Amino acid sequence: MNKILVTGGCGYIGAHTIVDLIENGFEPVSIDNNSRSSTSLLAGIKEITGVAVKNYKVDLANFDDTYAVFQENTDIKGIIHFAAYKAVGESVEQPLMYYENNLFSLINVLKCAKEFEVPHFIFSSSCTVYGSPDTIPVTEDSPIQPAESPYGATKQMGEQIVRDATQSSDFKSVLLRYFNPVGAHPSALIGELPLGKPQNLVPAITQTAVGKIKELTVFGDDYDTRDGSCVRDYVHVCDIAHAHTLALQLLMENKNAAACEVYNLGTGNGVSVLEAIHAFEKVSDVKLNYKIGPRRPGDIVAIYANNSLAKEKLKWDPKYSLDEMMATAWKWQLKLQDDEALHNNVNFQMN
Ligand code: WQD
Repeated sequence: MNKILVTGGCGYIGAHTIVDLIENGFEPVSIDNNSRSSTSLLAGIKEITGVAVKNYKVDLANFDDTYAVFQENTDIKGIIHFAAYKAVGESVEQPLMYYENNLFSLINVLKCAKEFEVPHFIFSSSCTVYGSPDTIPVTEDSPIQPAESPYGATKQMGEQIVRDATQSSDFKSVLLRYFNPVGAHPSALIGELPLGKPQNLVPAITQTAVGKIKELTVFGDDYDTRDGSCVRDYVHVCDIAHAHTLALQLLMENKNAAACEVYNLGTGNGVSVLEAIHAFEKVSDVKLNYKIGPRRPGDIVAIYANNSLAKEKLKWDPKYSLDEMMATAWKWQLKLQDDEALHNNVNFQMN
């Protein structure tokens, strides 16, 4: 089987991609220092696929430790690079930590890819590179606006670094620009594990619905959109995961037109915050406790994808609906609640 190195494999999108890779005959290996993730998702991956995926607990910002992993796995046929910090607000407070972690990690992995002649490289990018677009939907040729945060800047710089590294080497690469990944694997055995209070909308919704958060704040309903709240392109994490497998297959079958290609991963449907909340209420039958609050600095009004290139070239066809995104996110949140209750109960019995 083709061994694929998945950096950040214990993370939300990494874990879902590992499941999809296994289901498509690949042999993934994870490298993740678990600074922002836990190995608990590896247990979920094993339950879903029957495969115990190995994780190297290594800081990719450390070149020697990263190099050692490649020395132990000289048969790597492809790399999918997820490992990065991704909290927009935190990146504004600690820009140097973001540049150091996100860029040093990427550069070390690319240096090893070159040295060990790994032929295929897939980079986890984001719609955030478009900034606040002048026209929507955005295509891959839409202008790259000045980054709205250091996090966004690391994605823009990361894309440039991958392009330049591709040009000066023999490997081929694909940049995947995710819109808003949400939801969880239908089994509810893997999902999103936000650290602390969730910044992102969907985990904030589900944690409010279970009472972990008292009341959700909608950051503004006075925008120039159909209902005043911001519009985003929510896309199921399993659809995002499968796009990585398709991108890898495109490169392995030499079907890429250029050495480095870029694709939007969005459904093409713009959904407002209030519409997302109402979709959640419909599928969960929970009346969500929310209020309208002030705008969040840095938020853009609206963005959603023109995904025709990914559909045509990757043969990608996102299949999950907004309702299924909300239903799987809810099922995962309830599973987390059950696990927490069981854990507390076991602790109680033992004390
Ligand atoms: C979506 C909408 C908020 C929380 C960011 C990054 C992107 C990617 C996903 C990493 C906005 C509103 C949110 C809440 C709210 N990051 N909201 N109340 O900001 O579009 O994208 O996260 O992969 O690169 O830029 O996602 O989920 O934070 O916000 O009203 O409690 O929900 O204002 O309009 P965002 P988000």
